[in-house]
Amino acid sequence: MPNTATAPVETTRSQRLKAATNATHERLDQRIMAGDIFASRDRFARFLRVQYRFHCDINALYANAALAALVPDLAGRRRLPEIASDLRDLGHALPPSAAAAVRADLPLASALGWLYVAEGSNLGGAVLYKLAAKLGLNSGFGARHLAAHPDGVARHWRGFTAALDAVTLSRSQEDEVVAGAEAAFGRVRAHVEEAFA
Ligand code: HEM
Repeated sequence: MPNTATAPVETTRSQRLKAATNATHERLDQRIMAGDIFASRDRFARFLRVQYRFHCDINALYANAALAALVPDLAGRRRLPEIASDLRDLGHALPPSAAAAVRADLPLASALGWLYVAEGSNLGGAVLYKLAAKLGLNSGFGARHLAAHPDGVARHWRGFTAALDAVTLSRSQEDEVVAGAEAAFGRVRAHVEEAFA
């Protein structure tokens, strides 16, 4: 029988990523909520602009062949069209296109880190979706991109984390995943600072 008292605590890659980015995520959540995004539809549109810019940044991820081979329904996870519809629903023009932060040939490890942030944001998105109801927004108007996946938010997330956790990576690639997630959070934060300035 193994000596459980001295056995190392095994963590998954997704758990390690969560721990590594927890403080950054917490600060981002607080910054967004301090932006009073449920005070009016116009305030909410600022959050939509952040999401639009971030999802333009990562658009090339969804055409990344190495990522598509690993992650179930990668193309179906792309939310840029729904975010654009949400902005149009609220009568807002799409922000002008800027240079995307992510190239199509981004190495797999780094791509996993970026996608972790995009997919993880659906968890907080479920909370935001409920709050958006008080602005009259829902899956058919203004909050389309926050609506839960038909499989359920938790199950859809586990589909991603199972793929993320299963892939074999070298030590330096492990670091690249974390750096990719940190870069993604940094990019979202920069968009937040601009939208809420
Ligand atoms: C675009 C902005 C956001 C990004 C990029 C983002 C990113 C993430 C990520 C990566 C996770 C997954 C953490 C894990 O590994 O379990 C997560 C979870 C979560 N986020 Fe955010 N988030 C964002 C906005 C928000 C906001 C505004 C809130 C405030 C309500 C929020 C609340 C949460 C909650 C409640 C969870 C689930 C935490 C858990 O189950 O442990 N997020 N988010």
